Amino acid sequence: MNIVKVANYESMSLKACEKLTSFLKTTDNPVLGLATGSTPEGLYRCLIEKQQQGEISFNNTTTFNLDEYVGLKGNDPNSYRYFMNDKLFDHIDIQLENTHIPNGETSDMNAECETFEKELKEKGPVDIQILGLGLNGHIGFNEPGTPFNSRTHVVELDESTRQANSRFFSSIDEVPKHAITMGIDTIMESKEIILLVSGENKAEAVKKLVQGEVTEEFPASILQKHSNVTIIADEAALSQIK
Ligand code: F6R
Repeated sequence: MNIVKVANYESMSLKACEKLTSFLKTTDNPVLGLATGSTPEGLYRCLIEKQQQGEISFNNTTTFNLDEYVGLKGNDPNSYRYFMNDKLFDHIDIQLENTHIPNGETSDMNAECETFEKELKEKGPVDIQILGLGLNGHIGFNEPGTPFNSRTHVVELDESTRQANSRFFSSIDEVPKHAITMGIDTIMESKEIILLVSGENKAEAVKKLVQGEVTEEFPASILQKHSNVTIIADEAALSQIK
């Protein structure tokens, strides 16, 4: 694993933005894997700027997002479809039909997982997958205990994850209990992975990810086995790694 240490959240976002910009400039039909949450927001702001300045175009880019809550409509401000449109897609020249996010409002969740995998197979593999890191080691919504060989599936969210994400909802009761997520095996098929992490509260999780045992009890530890992973982390997030 390649670890890039930067000063703070802003420099983490810029470093990731530089990497993606140079990749997009030199690739004809890029396939990006994207994440939601607070961590990649700065990266998305920077990519919007680069596109609006004409440095890059997303016209031929295909995207796949990691996950979506079950039960929220795409126009619900807490859905990940809404998040991606609002924070990135609505401000760049991407074709919306080339953006793929699991549909959390279908009545047949298993069929939705299969459709998502089928599309990934047809249009993938993902060239670069952006990941954030959950406090409990989740990647996507693969909570501790998820088998490493899992494909896109429906998950029951951990109480700790619902608690952490309740900051976006008016109360914890409104946080969905289930989500659809790419599986760990699905994520590991990406050609390259860039994991972004910022802040002291993630320091223990980063330490386990980099130096801990590879175990399903800490899903992100599987990244030790991927041949092309870059962690872009700020000093606070790396503070427990000596
Ligand atoms: C989001 C996702 C999650 C987040 C993780 C960290 O699509 O898959 O794994 O990356 O929960 O979230 P933040 O960035 O809000 O700390």
